Amino acid sequence: MTGRFVTIEGGEGGGKSTFILGLGLALSQKGIQFQATREPGGTPGAEEIRSLLLKGSVKRWDRMSETLLLFAARRDLIVNFIRPALKQGQWVLCDRFVDSTIAYQGGGGGLDVGFIKNLYDVISEGLKPDLTFLLDIDPALGLARATHRLATTQNEEGRFEQMPLSFHQKIRQSFLDMAHENPDRYCLIDATLPPQDILQLAMEHLEKKGWL
Ligand code: TYD
Repeated sequence: MTGRFVTIEGGEGGGKSTFILGLGLALSQKGIQFQATREPGGTPGAEEIRSLLLKGSVKRWDRMSETLLLFAARRDLIVNFIRPALKQGQWVLCDRFVDSTIAYQGGGGGLDVGFIKNLYDVISEGLKPDLTFLLDIDPALGLARATHRLATTQNEEGRFEQMPLSFHQKIRQSFLDMAHENPDRYCLIDATLPPQDILQLAMEHLEKKGWL
C-alpha cells in the first residue's frame, strides 16, 4: 500500500476540521488507512509549541521568531509522525503545512518567501505533499465564522484571528497564487459550498487521480 501525504490549507473559518473528519470517514469506507494530524502541533512537543504560538497577545512574537517556532514544531512532526506513518503505507491528512507559513508569515506577514522555502528544504529531508486541498473563502466571511467559533467554545487560541482583515486578504491571495502555480498538486474548493458537496468534490478528485 502506498502512503499519501495530503495537506488541507486555507484561511480562517473555511471548515477544514469538518472536512478532514468527513474525508477520513470516506477513506475508511474505501479501506484506506490514514492518520490525521494538524499544524502547528500533532506530537507532544509540537503541541507545546502550538500553545506558545496561538495564545497570548498579537505582538508576542515577531515574524521571524514565530516562523522559527513553527519550523521547530514542523520538524518534530515530520520526523516523529509523518515519515513513520507514510513508511507504514498509511495516508497522512494534515490540517495545514508549510504552505500556511508561506501564506501567513510570508504573504500576510511580509517575511521573505525564499527564506521560508529554503528553511523548509533544509528541515524536510525532501518530504513534499502529494496533494493539497485548498478550502477557499472570502476572509470577511471566514473570520466571522472563526470568531463566532472561538467565542462559543471558549477557545483561547485566537492570536491570528485578531489580526486585521487586510492581513487575511493577503493570505487568501497567497494561497490562490500557490494553487495557480502548482495545478498538479492543488485541488481548489469553494469553502462556502455545503460540507457534503465539498466532500464529494474531494472524493471525485481522488478518484480521478486513481488513488481510490
Ligand atoms: P488553528 O486553530 O489550527 O486554526 P484554523 O482552524 O484556522 O486552522 O490555528 C492555526 C493558526 O496558526 C491559524 O490561525 C494559522 C496559523 N498558522 C500560521 O500562521 N503559520 C503556519 O505555518 C501554520 C501551520 C499555522
